[in-house]
Amino acid sequence: MLLNTDQRAKLDPSDDTLFYEQPRLVTHVDEGFIQKLTELYRDRLQPNTRILDLMSSWVSHLPDEMQFEHVEGHGMNAQELDRNPRLNHYFLQNLNQNQQLPLPDQSFDAVLNTVSVQYLQYPEAIFTEIYRILKPGGLCIISFSNRMFYQKAIQAWRDGTEESRVDLVQHYVNAIPGFSPPEVITRPANFPMLLQLLGMPGGDPFYAIITSRVA
Ligand SMILES: C[S@@+](CC[C@H](N)C(=O)[O-])C[C@H]1O[C@@H](n2cnc3c(N)ncnc32)[C@H](O)[C@@H]1O
Repeated sequence: MLLNTDQRAKLDPSDDTLFYEQPRLVTHVDEGFIQKLTELYRDRLQPNTRILDLMSSWVSHLPDEMQFEHVEGHGMNAQELDRNPRLNHYFLQNLNQNQQLPLPDQSFDAVLNTVSVQYLQYPEAIFTEIYRILKPGGLCIISFSNRMFYQKAIQAWRDGTEESRVDLVQHYVNAIPGFSPPEVITRPANFPMLLQLLGMPGGDPFYAIITSRVA
């Protein structure tokens, strides 16, 4: 097993559905992070393809000018997902209770997961499902920063460092035969020293792990 029981534990063990009951129409990372992510999507995604935004909210960070055949959303709050202008359809599902995605085999060209992987208690099962629903050659892009809902992140993430979290997500990918070796993209925050001198937080660092379904 990739994680032991303690490493999967959250400080707040209550049903995640309660935590996500109220919509949060906020951005969870700063503008610099979002620009880097949108640029990465512009670079790696193909127009007119089928995209799954797994663990989504009211924003998907896709480039405005890119059109897709279908963008499927998944999340925990209907009001947030209703507001997301990029989604053609969405479904609600607590992935810590049910890891099986209600989506056919080999039906997506890309699966995106933004600033959310830290909340998955059974990542092996979820990455197995991501693999199953991707078409051969399909992409998986997992991005994250150093922010989190601390009480809802798993211990392996909470107690780790930024470097160990990059390693952890690579382990998730490497655990699934048929995913390509993960590519890691690391970008420092924009102007961290300048922001700190102005008495502002240093900005959000950007990490992305990219893999594709080979077989
Ligand atoms: C920090 S938000 C990120 C939302 C969005 N990806 C973004 O970029 O703004 C974390 C998201 O993780 C998802 N999430 C958290 N716990 C979950 C769970 N147990 N099952 C399914 N999704 C969950 C929810 O969709 C929630 O909106």
